[in-house]
Amino acid sequence: MGKAIGIVSLKGGVGKTSVVSALGAAIAGFNKKVLLIDGNLSAPNLGLHLNLIEPEITLHHVLSRKANIGDAIYQLDNLDVIPSSIFFRTNVNPLLLKDKIKYLKKKYDIILIDSSPSLDKETLAVMLASDGILVVTTPDYPTLSTTLKAVKLAKQRGTPIDGLVLNKVYNKNFELSIKDIEKTVEVPVMAVIPHDINVLKALSEFTPSTIHKPKSQGSEEYKKLASTLIGEKYKPFRLKRFFKWINPKTQDINRLVFYENVFND
Ligand SMILES: Nc1ncnc2c1ncn2[C@@H]1O[C@H](COP(=O)(O)OP(=O)(O)OP(=O)(O)O)[C@@H](O)[C@H]1O
Ligand SMILES: [Mg+2]
Repeated sequence: MGKAIGIVSLKGGVGKTSVVSALGAAIAGFNKKVLLIDGNLSAPNLGLHLNLIEPEITLHHVLSRKANIGDAIYQLDNLDVIPSSIFFRTNVNPLLLKDKIKYLKKKYDIILIDSSPSLDKETLAVMLASDGILVVTTPDYPTLSTTLKAVKLAKQRGTPIDGLVLNKVYNKNFELSIKDIEKTVEVPVMAVIPHDINVLKALSEFTPSTIHKPKSQGSEEYKKLASTLIGEKYKPFRLKRFFKWINPKTQDINRLVFYENVFND
């Protein structure tokens, strides 16, 4: 049985869709069957990240019972995508999502669900459909407060939280530290993605950043997160591994703890 992971944040522009596309491609790189779903129904754009422009049948059709979910799946290079419609007139019921993806969990190893930044039925539906969530955050106070809110909501709804993805990090001392963030939110940081102009270049080429620049620091971090989520050990270049364990980073330790908890019982 596959796992559905919601990629959420109650703030716009922090990088949810970029994480779905980059992490999805990284997991597919481990020869896993991956499905990406655009659960951001009011302002969808996952398709635009992946060169899937104006798809005919989308999640909107599925959630308004106008199409079967199988007909809304588009096969890209090594991953599948269910996009949403930018323009759609009929009302949809986001809360059908959980039921609609049930049988797909048998077909895929991992399903990543993108979500809307608003605190409404759409985000709630993503949380309810997910077996775990990753909350995307950035190292600043306004985002931290919305991250706290998202974590609280997930806890209320009983959705397990797999961790935080700390995105757009400049490594400046005015930024909130991992320690500050973890202390406030009480959720481990599972990946730290630098702010990188290559992510914007990747977007302009409709390509996941992990495919566009596979050796960048961010892509390496996505691969480590991907391997942790699927229970595989990712072995980067030996010398790097050696130094890593002299001075392990917080997120390295968090990923190891997650791996031991989930896959080593
Ligand atoms: N690590 C990064 N470095 C630089 N730019 C980034 C990074 N991550 C995301 N971006 C850029 O930030 C912008 C917003 O990203 P994205 O659309 O993924 O955010 P979002 O949280 O999905 O937004 P929304 O809530 O509106 O759906 C995009 O232009 C994207 O390319
Ligand atoms: Mg988005």
